[in-house]
Amino acid sequence: MPESATGRAAFDETEKLSGDALRELQLTRLRASLQHAYDHVPFYRTSFDRAGVRPQDCRSLGDLARFPFTVKDDLRANYPFGMFAVPRSEVRRIHASSGTTGRPTVVGYTDRDLSSWADVVARSIHAAGGRAGHTVHIAYGYGLFTGGLGAHYGAERLGCTVVPASGGMTSRQVQIIRDFRPEIIMVTPSYMLTLLDEFERQGIDPRSTSLKVGIFGAEPWTQEMRREIEERFAIDAVDIYGLSELMGPGVAQECVETKDGLHIWEDHFYPEVVDPITGEVLPDGASGELVFTSLTKEAMPIVRYRTRDLTRLLPGTARPAFRRMEKITGRSDDMIILRGVNLFPAQVEEIVLRTPGVAPHFQLRLTREGRMDRLTVRAEARPDAAPEARTAAAGRIARCVKDGIGVSVDVEIVDPETLERSVGKIKRIVDARPRERG
Ligand code: DLL
Repeated sequence: MPESATGRAAFDETEKLSGDALRELQLTRLRASLQHAYDHVPFYRTSFDRAGVRPQDCRSLGDLARFPFTVKDDLRANYPFGMFAVPRSEVRRIHASSGTTGRPTVVGYTDRDLSSWADVVARSIHAAGGRAGHTVHIAYGYGLFTGGLGAHYGAERLGCTVVPASGGMTSRQVQIIRDFRPEIIMVTPSYMLTLLDEFERQGIDPRSTSLKVGIFGAEPWTQEMRREIEERFAIDAVDIYGLSELMGPGVAQECVETKDGLHIWEDHFYPEVVDPITGEVLPDGASGELVFTSLTKEAMPIVRYRTRDLTRLLPGTARPAFRRMEKITGRSDDMIILRGVNLFPAQVEEIVLRTPGVAPHFQLRLTREGRMDRLTVRAEARPDAAPEARTAAAGRIARCVKDGIGVSVDVEIVDPETLERSVGKIKRIVDARPRERG
């Protein structure tokens, strides 16, 4: 396996690599990683053989395109430990994502994997403005989900004081934030809104806390949501991305000084963007599906994993050697096709958050009438919104969706505090259509 970049000094040095040095490092690591997968995971041996490629055929980074994709169902089919490339005794930790149906997806880490993970999360928190000595309140869920523990060890690696709050018990979170005075909070953006409500319920001005930076991820969120959170809490809000199949949080991070998309930590994770239908690799700048190959993972190397996340690759800015990914606009599985028009929850979020009189809480409800699908946007009124303001808001949302996205939807403005609140990842779409038969 390739040598790793572990330790606090190493992650700082890596950020200063030149583009050429980074690409050279990537190729060395990629070749070793493909070989490791081929030698130790029967699934990869079979899939490479079937595609007629061998690890040694990868002579340049572009050659990766000759290798087959891996999808979530491949991980499910090898449940629980079939994708592991090291003996069980070397697997130091296991995480799993529940998934909505069937078997969970299981992932494993060696000691060195855990160390690389802590490094990239430390680097992420640093890019967000965190420094040794800061206190970090972690309200991502702890447990099989990678959010809590992933953030935790990264914050410790950076030299921060960690408050492992996990998700839930919202009123206590507010008290802890007031008393422990963290500078940084790591949480899903939707749970941050739940915390906002709780601050207000307790009569505390959310702008008066010690918080300076929020590191938000695990679900899509828009620039409008950033503005809302930054203004209501008087903090900087930056984006963190990751997925358990590849590692967890810390695959890519937005830098606080530029807030212009997320720098991908390419010394550990090699990104490609492909056409979601044909699978063809697209040039940087073109939008498509993000695909990742791990470069240093020992316990569970992953080759060309189809994330389903839609974005595009852009040149580095605040960290010039590392490419950025644009804020994720949605997942292909969250795309609603309504009478032929594609619609993502994030597009509706933008509209709802720009509408006066409504709170930043909404839900999309799909129903069917005859053969026709209908979509109802249910948005919550702000407590001080008069009845006329509610009517105007409903009209405005329907009009903006029609003009901006090109499809008619119903809009229902519901009473304050009636929509379900998030304690982790929020579920935006409620599919109440009758199930297909056959
Ligand atoms: O959500 C890891 C994570 C934890 C990331 C905490 C950031 C913070 P999974 O549960 O495997 O892992 O879900 C991964 O969540 O493919 C995206 O669809 C979505 N996702 C994660 N971060 C973002 C983000 C964690 N910043 C899936 N923006 C991914 C949009 C995100 N979507």
